Amino acid sequence: MIKFNLNGRKIETDAPPTARLLDVIRDDFNLIGTKEGCGEGECGACSVFVNNLLQNSCLIPIGSIEGAEVVTIEGIMESDQFKILDESYSEAGGVQCGYCIPGMVMAS
Ligand code: FES
Repeated sequence: MIKFNLNGRKIETDAPPTARLLDVIRDDFNLIGTKEGCGEGECGACSVFVNNLLQNSCLIPIGSIEGAEVVTIEGIMESDQFKILDESYSEAGGVQCGYCIPGMVMAS
């Protein structure tokens, strides 16, 4: 059993240690805001914070995050930074794909 924190909640999974973090958070916890684009660490669509560092979840085996703090886009949706970005996208008629928001929030 692998235990870690996901968006502030203590959780555990019996996923195989080699399962990708991307698949576990989407399939086991239904956090589908994290997307798969390239699946090989190039595009960033799968970005999540792991211990406050932006990481490509498609490259992270779940077995390596025992005890880590993982934050997905769902975990920052209530932040003031996210609300400002969300409103700005709406006002500009922009399409928000989830690709850049974690990086923009982290930089602010
Ligand atoms: Fe493209 Fe992970 S899906 S970097």
